[in-house]
Amino acid sequence: MTTKPIIAIDGPAAAGKGTLARRLASRLGLPYLDTGLLYRAVGRRVLDAGGDPSNADHAEAAARSLVPADLDRTDLRGPQADAAATAVAAIPGVRAALLDFQRDFAVRDGAVLDGRDIGTVIFPDAQAKLFVTASLAERARRRWLELRGKGLEAEIKTVEEDMRQRDAKDAARAAAPLKAALDAFLLDTSAMDADAAFLAALAFIRTRINMD
Ligand code: C5P
Repeated sequence: MTTKPIIAIDGPAAAGKGTLARRLASRLGLPYLDTGLLYRAVGRRVLDAGGDPSNADHAEAAARSLVPADLDRTDLRGPQADAAATAVAAIPGVRAALLDFQRDFAVRDGAVLDGRDIGTVIFPDAQAKLFVTASLAERARRRWLELRGKGLEAEIKTVEEDMRQRDAKDAARAAAPLKAALDAFLLDTSAMDADAAFLAALAFIRTRINMD
């Protein structure tokens, strides 16, 4: 029996992880999980209950009561959801409560997962790990364009500052901080479009797993 591969894609906000991971999953015939949605859904549950996303008791109770349908909610994006997700993600009990969900997701069929700690904590033995990044200015520009595409008004400077703060919190936290695994392939997409990033990622993955 051959083991189905696990592909870990980590990196900061708006580096192009989601687009890349979804495309790789489709190319490789693997299930895809956006693990940021788990933290977003926990943050949203805390807000709905009138709680404080930085409070460990509130956030851990929300993480324990998470159900898969929470990931389909349509209110998991936007500045309030971003901030709540980043706050709950710094709490070790929340991360522990979400660990099995992520591992179970990939156990049968393999998977492509994107997040912050997939290659370092969730699947340290993943067959291929990528750390996808881009300059802060470029990531802010992409997020700003995405917001405008949805008809949402935003100042690019505000988007950049929110992103800078969120990345700083993700990198500085003690529990599973944002960092590249030592064996990750570093992919800087600052000067790449989605096609170029996909081809570069695929070329790396071919060196790690057998592909048809
Ligand atoms: O990837 P996304 O921006 O949707 O993630 C939202 C937040 O969830 C991140 O800023 C980070 O704090 C947290 N997160 C995490 N670990 C992951 C995925 C997301 O801590 N694997």
